[in-house]
Amino acid sequence: MEDRVETEHKHLGVFHLMWLHLEGLLNRIYRNNPLYHLHSIGVFLIWVALFTGIYLFIFYKINPEGAYESVRYLTEEQWWLGGIMRSLHRYGSDLLVTVMLLHLAKTFITSRHGGWRRLAWISGVFILWMVWICGIFGYWLVWDRKAQLVALFSAEMLERIPIFGQPLSINFSGAGSLDAIFFYILFIMHFALTVFLFILLWVHVSRIASARINPPFRVGLATLGLLLLYSILFPAGLEPPADLKSLPATVDVDWFFMFLYAPLKHLSVPTMWFIIIVATVGIALVPWLFPTRKGLTASVILKNCTGCEQCVFDCPYEAIYMQRRSDGKPFNLEALVSPERCAGCGICVGACEFDAISMDGLTEREFKEQILAISRELAGTKEGPTLLVFACSWGVDASANLDGLTARVLTVPCGGMVQPSMAEIALDAGVDGVVIAACAPNDCHYRTGDELLKLRFSGLRHPSFKTSVGRDHRIKMLFLPQTARREFRQQIEDFAEELRDGGKNTPCV
Ligand code: HEM
Repeated sequence: MEDRVETEHKHLGVFHLMWLHLEGLLNRIYRNNPLYHLHSIGVFLIWVALFTGIYLFIFYKINPEGAYESVRYLTEEQWWLGGIMRSLHRYGSDLLVTVMLLHLAKTFITSRHGGWRRLAWISGVFILWMVWICGIFGYWLVWDRKAQLVALFSAEMLERIPIFGQPLSINFSGAGSLDAIFFYILFIMHFALTVFLFILLWVHVSRIASARINPPFRVGLATLGLLLLYSILFPAGLEPPADLKSLPATVDVDWFFMFLYAPLKHLSVPTMWFIIIVATVGIALVPWLFPTRKGLTASVILKNCTGCEQCVFDCPYEAIYMQRRSDGKPFNLEALVSPERCAGCGICVGACEFDAISMDGLTEREFKEQILAISRELAGTKEGPTLLVFACSWGVDASANLDGLTARVLTVPCGGMVQPSMAEIALDAGVDGVVIAACAPNDCHYRTGDELLKLRFSGLRHPSFKTSVGRDHRIKMLFLPQTARREFRQQIEDFAEELRDGGKNTPCV
């Protein structure tokens, strides 16, 4: 394995490092780092928009005369609930745009966009536009001066598309008039796009096993609490009502949704369309323009497969599926890997205790033989305590941070590749301690490696330890981000100290 898996540190770009430092900073301030939960906060904010939107709908009058009046009623007369709901709806959507852009930036900067994640990326681009268009329709519904300006600019943009016959902008200038049907269409679009957003989200996570769509309780509560506080302190305002006979000279701009209209002051509409199309296509092509490095690919060794399905349960990208047994063995099913969906994380190797998975030709048995050979050699050294470190290729660069210690490092694609029996092999061979260094909690590069590792080592998930020999104190799991070098070193030194105090391990093979 050593010669096949590279640590990712050599390939880290400057933005990746900056991002990791930002995460490290937030880790120090807040235990539930929101940068590890951007995707689920995003889903949560869509729910906030849906529920507050339903409340607003109860009072909304779908016609040009009533629309503004109903929003004014909610804002000024029912400020204690309707006003707060409206503010939550507005600020929640603004936060959704922010969180979505941060989630996009994170997946790109930390190389989580390419290969098997392409479907998530492409559907993400659709989501991006869907959120934006939905927000713009929302602004129209208020039908104040801001809405009038947004409507006029949007119409100017749309009428350049040949399918629209007469100039749409006429409807929003002195020459036009609006009827209730128009408001019905606006309202239905706003609502239908929200529903469509949920469908897109379903596609977005369709190749992600057990996608984390709910933020941890505290993160959700903190998000809602902050939104509520902001809504109470700075309730969403209202411009004067729209007046088609005149154009507003100035309005408050909401940059989260209206950023595209500001350049229209200086650029022509066709230039704006050109920029939008090039930017959208450019973002959509990111997985091909900036491909992520492909690691190893898993395959099934059929003669050893028992059809137990554990690899299917554990694969984070639904790259393994079961089919009817084809080799006449007395099992109902056999596992099969879709190579194009395989992330190369090796989590399936960690899941399989029958030597039925091979990573580019390296089988579980061969990997265990490597562990045994290294462990015997290590246990034979006079100095101690001796440590075997399984290091995740996306975690702290273990090799560079073990100077002066009697340690050997085995780099694995993901901590989730390590089985409890692998630690047992090292301990049975006489190594004093085993360390498994994985990614920070909730930030596994392959999504679930950290959780599976913990579950397997605590006996809550297959495969667990072969024998219960009470050697837990000789196993240390570290979940640290790449930049936490000092903490890694400190924790290993403390562990080595504990092992020294506990005395040497006796080999039992
Ligand atoms: C409202 C906006 C969005 C929401 C609510 C959202 C939500 C999610 C969720 C729940 C996941 C699964 C995370 C997991 O279980 O590990 C995910 C993954 C992903 N998203 Fe989004 N997403 C949004 C927008 C975007 C955008 C705009 C992009 C990029 C164009 C994007 C790219 C990705 C990628 C590449 C993954 C896979 C990451 C991985 O495998 O680690 N998403 N998203």
